[in-house]
Parts: sequence; structure tokens; C-alpha cells
Amino acid sequence: MLLLKTRKDLISVLSSQSKGKGLGLVPTMGALHQGHMALVKRALEENDQVVVSIFVNPTQFNNAEDLKKYPKTIQADRALLGQISDEIIIFAPSIKEIYSTHVHSNSYDLDGLDRVMEGAFREGHFNGVGTIVEALLNLVKPDRAYFGEKDFQQLQIVRKLVENRHIPVEIIGCPIVREPSGLALSSRNTRLSKQLREEAAFIYKTLRMAKDKFGTESAQRVTEWVKSQFNERPQLTLEYIEITDEATLTPIQRKQKNKKYRAFVAVYAGEVRLIDNIALN
Ligand code: PAF
Repeated sequence: MLLLKTRKDLISVLSSQSKGKGLGLVPTMGALHQGHMALVKRALEENDQVVVSIFVNPTQFNNAEDLKKYPKTIQADRALLGQISDEIIIFAPSIKEIYSTHVHSNSYDLDGLDRVMEGAFREGHFNGVGTIVEALLNLVKPDRAYFGEKDFQQLQIVRKLVENRHIPVEIIGCPIVREPSGLALSSRNTRLSKQLREEAAFIYKTLRMAKDKFGTESAQRVTEWVKSQFNERPQLTLEYIEITDEATLTPIQRKQKNKKYRAFVAVYAGEVRLIDNIALN
């Protein structure tokens, strides 16, 4: 398996190989888990060549402490990828390789998709995500790029960015992978104590019940109910619960038959911030 660290090496390897069925890109920040593996497996099925980028992107962290604590496990990541194929090309550049000496984000107009939820609570986050995703798409020039639905807002934002910038790539969203307890897989889960990890299963349990309630109750009642459930769990702090239109991410006013809705939450389990979401209809 190739592990490349420079743009020059990546471009040279990609241009020397024939693309056949196509080239897939799975952008990651490393600390790979089975959620990432599901993206990589899908990319391997649909393409001849797959690039997995591993880059902890500093411009998308609004919290310096979170960036510092973000797990970096390149050897384990490499081993995990090696278990499913040794044809994968890993691209693991340095910060300098990506940003040169000027570590900064571009500014994007994303039709308001970036102003709610993660965008509202993590200032500058989506400009940082947009900057790195655009840079990787322009560098790798994949036919398809794969993103997990756990970061559903990010997925919709990447779709919008690609449309606005006319980048010729198909963006593919893949379902959330969960632990047996229901907890959505996340690189941040490794920072949870055993007890908090068990407690965090409550997040998905509550989302599933919210989905049931959404069948018969108003969005406002469901939202209030979710808040009241979290109020009873001292170890979990709900940062937000939003029920939105899936396409525009605007908060639901009144349910309409032809629209798809999704519930989104951000929750602190101790110091660890977790997000999750569920399709409601
Ligand atoms: O979802 C992630 O891991 C990151 O936001 C991404 C898309 C790799 C950009 O750094």
C-alpha cells in the first residue's frame, strides 16, 4: 500500500495509473474506525483506484483544545486499511504541504446551510471543511467522493459547494455505522470513559423514540420531549436538538407531506462533544 505525503508524489502516482472504472476519494482525519471502513469499502466497489486522505485539518477546529486532543493514529490507520486492500493509496500530507505558510480558510456562500447547528455552534467550522474538501477535490480530481451521514450537515454543504464551484465529482453519502449499543461510530468515542460510552447510547435511543413520536406529534412537541429526556441525564448535556428540512436544513415550521425531515443533536458526554441524526420520515 502506498503512503504518500506530497502533492507531487500523489499527482505523479495518479497520472501513471489508468483509471478504468474511476477514481474514488475518501477524505478523513484519520483515527479510522468501521464507519470510515464502510466508506472505503463502498469506494473500492465502485472505483478501480481509491485514495484515502488522512489529514487533521486545523482550520475546521474552532476549539484549540479539541484539535490538540484529536487522536492521531497513522500506523493503526494504515494497518486497518491494509486489512481490506493493499491497493489503497493513502495521502497523508503535512499542514505545510496543504496550506504552505498561510493556514487560513476560504469564505463560502452556502445558502445558509452553514449558519445552523454545527455552523452556529462552531464558528468558522464549515469554511475550514470547505477549504480542505475543495483543495482535496482539486488535487485528486476523483470521479466520486464519499462522506458519512453522521456529519449530514457537512454532506449537504459539500454537495452545495461542489455545485456552486462546478467541480465535476459525484458526492456519495453513506449510512451511519453504529456500535451494537446504537452509539454512532466516531473517532471521538475513544475519548469516552467506559461509563460515558454506555451512557452515550442514550443519544440514539432518544432519537429513535423521537422518530416514533414524530409520526403523530408536532415537531415542537417532539423537540420539547427530547430536551426533557436529556434534562434527566446529568452525564449528558444537550447542546441542540433541531428538526429540519433535510434539503435546506431550515427548521421545520409545519409538516408537509412531500418533504423529508431529519432530527439532529449535539451532546456533550463529559468533555466530549458528540453529534448524531436520524431520518424522521
Ligand atoms: O468528516 C471529516 O472527517 C472531515 O470533516 C473531512 C471531511 C475529512 C474534512 O477534513
